[in-house]
Amino acid sequence: MLRPMRFVLAAVLVGAGWLSAADETVWLTELDLSKMRQGWGRPQINRSIREKPLKIGGVAFERGVGTHARSTLWVALAGGAGRFTAFAGVDDAAGGPASIEFRLMGDGRTLWESGLMKPGDAPKAVEADLRGVKTLLLMVDDGGDGISFDHADWADAKFVVSGAKPRAVSAPVEPGVLLTPKPGPAPRLNGPAVCGGRPGHFFLYRIPAQGQRPMTFAAEGLPSTLRLDPHTGIITGTVPPRGEHPVRLRAENAHGRAARLLRIVSGDTLALTPPMGWNHWYAHYNRITDAMMREAADIMIRSGMADVGYQYVNIDDCWMNARPDAKRPDPMRTGPLRDAAGDVIPNRHFPDMGGLAAYIHSLGLKAGLYTSPGPFTCAGYAGAYQHEEQDARRFAGWGYDFLKYDWCSYGQVVKGDNSLEAMKKPYRLMGDILKRLDRDIVLNLCQYGMGDVWEWGAEVGGHCWRTSGDLGFELDRIFEVALKNAEHRQWSKPGAWNDPDYIQIGHIGSARGGGLPEPCPLTPSEQYAFMSLWCLMAAPLFYSGDMTRLDEFTLNVLCNPEVIEIDQDPLGQCARVVPLGAHAFAMVKDLADHSKAVGLFNRGEFPAVVEAPWSDLGIAGPHRVRDLWRQKDLSDAVSALRADVPRHGVALVRLFPRARQ
Ligand code: GLA
Repeated sequence: MLRPMRFVLAAVLVGAGWLSAADETVWLTELDLSKMRQGWGRPQINRSIREKPLKIGGVAFERGVGTHARSTLWVALAGGAGRFTAFAGVDDAAGGPASIEFRLMGDGRTLWESGLMKPGDAPKAVEADLRGVKTLLLMVDDGGDGISFDHADWADAKFVVSGAKPRAVSAPVEPGVLLTPKPGPAPRLNGPAVCGGRPGHFFLYRIPAQGQRPMTFAAEGLPSTLRLDPHTGIITGTVPPRGEHPVRLRAENAHGRAARLLRIVSGDTLALTPPMGWNHWYAHYNRITDAMMREAADIMIRSGMADVGYQYVNIDDCWMNARPDAKRPDPMRTGPLRDAAGDVIPNRHFPDMGGLAAYIHSLGLKAGLYTSPGPFTCAGYAGAYQHEEQDARRFAGWGYDFLKYDWCSYGQVVKGDNSLEAMKKPYRLMGDILKRLDRDIVLNLCQYGMGDVWEWGAEVGGHCWRTSGDLGFELDRIFEVALKNAEHRQWSKPGAWNDPDYIQIGHIGSARGGGLPEPCPLTPSEQYAFMSLWCLMAAPLFYSGDMTRLDEFTLNVLCNPEVIEIDQDPLGQCARVVPLGAHAFAMVKDLADHSKAVGLFNRGEFPAVVEAPWSDLGIAGPHRVRDLWRQKDLSDAVSALRADVPRHGVALVRLFPRARQ
């Protein structure tokens, strides 16, 4: 209890002229703490983040805010506040190796900082003179080692106020500038430079092309097993005999022509570049229907997404039946799980699974679906347990091209057996079944990274694997998941992709409750950073927002072909991370043409100049610098890359070596 000290401090402040007798105390706990952003949990009033009494280094406090790194609270002062005081430290209940830094920023200037704090450290007295400051930012950083156990207390925290009271406000949001230039009327061919399949299997490829329609397509060197519709640009048929088949794609319209090489590789490997498409989950949860899937496929064409390479239209959970006795609000989704022959029964919102896949194919797109190796899916619908082969054959018979296989209730099957073999078993089983089918089905393992799945996902027949739990919508979590995902970069290669979950921007279903779609909470700069991270990591690119509410800004983030080309680069490399101080890092990715993609990221709360010397990027000599979001060349760089990067934003460039003189 630090009451006497508080009294002494007040007396000193009055003596120094910072306080007058009329000054009023406003406790931090009186502010609207719903505006506080933090890396884990919710801010607590007069309690630690774990809802225990506030205690730092053995000292108990009655009042204060318990939060968790990385935490920010923006406060508008309107000239009324004279001073902020508090005691800061790691809460004694953190229960692990926390490391935290507290900081107060006034109008972008550091007013006070704690330095690194660890569990058991005595509380540090916080004092900041706020006269003349318009906006105060309370920050808790993670000490550079991730946010685990970072339980942070702003104890006894209060403002001394003589006029307008401080007010918690939302973080500043910059205007949503459309960086991606509008495609011109002349044809521009996009999409992967390579695609693959197993000999003799169903082949479908809609040539991604921007530009005004009508457009005429041609394909020189097209194997005889394939046909091109010159009006739609859709190539269909069967995968040609084993080997590489270079095809020169051409497109022509009234405004010009374009050409691009596509290598069709017939062999054993699918997903030679990260799969791209749309998945319904984080927009529609258990509300999905056949009609919504068809509409999403239509919009994938109409919006131009397919013209930059989005291809799969994937149903997630809830297309099957849940048990009749389950407490489901929608009776259309309950009923028998299987028929007399043991076949899984789609629910009444999906009256024709084969017809749905055929419809998606008729647009030149591919179809995906979802199940679990357990008896039930994560949402409690019929899983594939003990019907794996039967279900896989059914999915292939219906014409599906992609399967997300989600662990969910499989834990009940293994009953606490945490061995690696137990983890691999259901995926190996499905992987082997799919290999025997006469249809190519991309297998997405969804088990949240258990047992270091990146090390064995490909071995059991997977083509991509989630490396973490569900991503959620918080920026810090997005950065954390991305940085973790990039740690597994050595396993990323054609046919084998680390999957950090879907792109959730635009309108997304409101968070955990599975609510109706609403605008995502990310700022424009954060959305550019999100998409850039995923492309630099060669992540599967699945948009999972509401397709019926795609706006111009969202499409500009999703559909920049020069940015997507980084994701789809045939080398398949995941970028490596280069830390650049407390709040910035670079991601550096080697590309097949010997250029490099580099993202300079600013996680800080203010715009910053971020600089990466050539030694960090592993290059030498002069380079042409292309700004990928704006699709324009900047001036050459000779020894370092330097960019103004917005708060939580990115500068994404491609560096091309200049021929040496
Ligand atoms: C898990 C997965 C999600 C989604 C849901 C469906 O949480 O990680 O991506 O598929 O199940 O229930």
